[in-house]
Amino acid sequence: MLRLVVLISGRGSNLGALIDYTAQADVSAQIVKVIADRPAKGCARAESANIPSQIIDPARIDGDFETALAGAIDEAAADFICLAGFMRVLSAGFCGRYAGKIINIHPSLLPAYKGLDTHARVLAAGEAVHGCSVHLVTAELDGGAVLARAQVSVRPDDNAESLAARVLVKEHILYPLVIGALVSGAIRIGPDGISHHPRTIPGRIAGAGHPLKWSKLFLVEPHAPE
Ligand code: GRF
Repeated sequence: MLRLVVLISGRGSNLGALIDYTAQADVSAQIVKVIADRPAKGCARAESANIPSQIIDPARIDGDFETALAGAIDEAAADFICLAGFMRVLSAGFCGRYAGKIINIHPSLLPAYKGLDTHARVLAAGEAVHGCSVHLVTAELDGGAVLARAQVSVRPDDNAESLAARVLVKEHILYPLVIGALVSGAIRIGPDGISHHPRTIPGRIAGAGHPLKWSKLFLVEPHAPE
């Protein structure tokens, strides 16, 4: 059983997608704890799924935030730390300590558009395609190895909100898909890097078709309508 700790700062819709995915009996992954760095809406989602949640607010604790965070993660014996809208940059020391174990979802087709306000920047640049990526977290912001990406077309009448909403639909497929790929061995993260293998992904993901196959390297285009 893969033990996941999910770190959030806000709404928690990706957390919700991960909760729904890992709640399935045939998915050998479990969210063992949710940690927020501020009072976050997503904590309620965790509580309603009976997942322990904890707020570690740097403004309200004595001592170092990352020391407290590492303590909570280690206590949960996490195999992977999933960032899902976690709005805090982790230090090089922290990323090194958990190298190959921290993953994040970012709303762009990395390596393009690292950082914030991706949807507005994509529109301003007149791009035809946009999307989301799940990647390993390293000391370089949004710069770790990409595990998988999902793409959407940019429409002529899109604004940042409409584009964000369509990307979010893909995020809710892609993040569980990557967890399933880690569970099944379709993605392996080892000391020599990342490898991809043709495997069936366990469980179901709303909007993604069934059975779930891991067939393409990097660019995953789930079957959901945009
Ligand atoms: C998502 O768009 C994610 O890609 C980005 O932050 C947002 C979090 O949304 N990193 P939610 O809290 O999961 O709803």
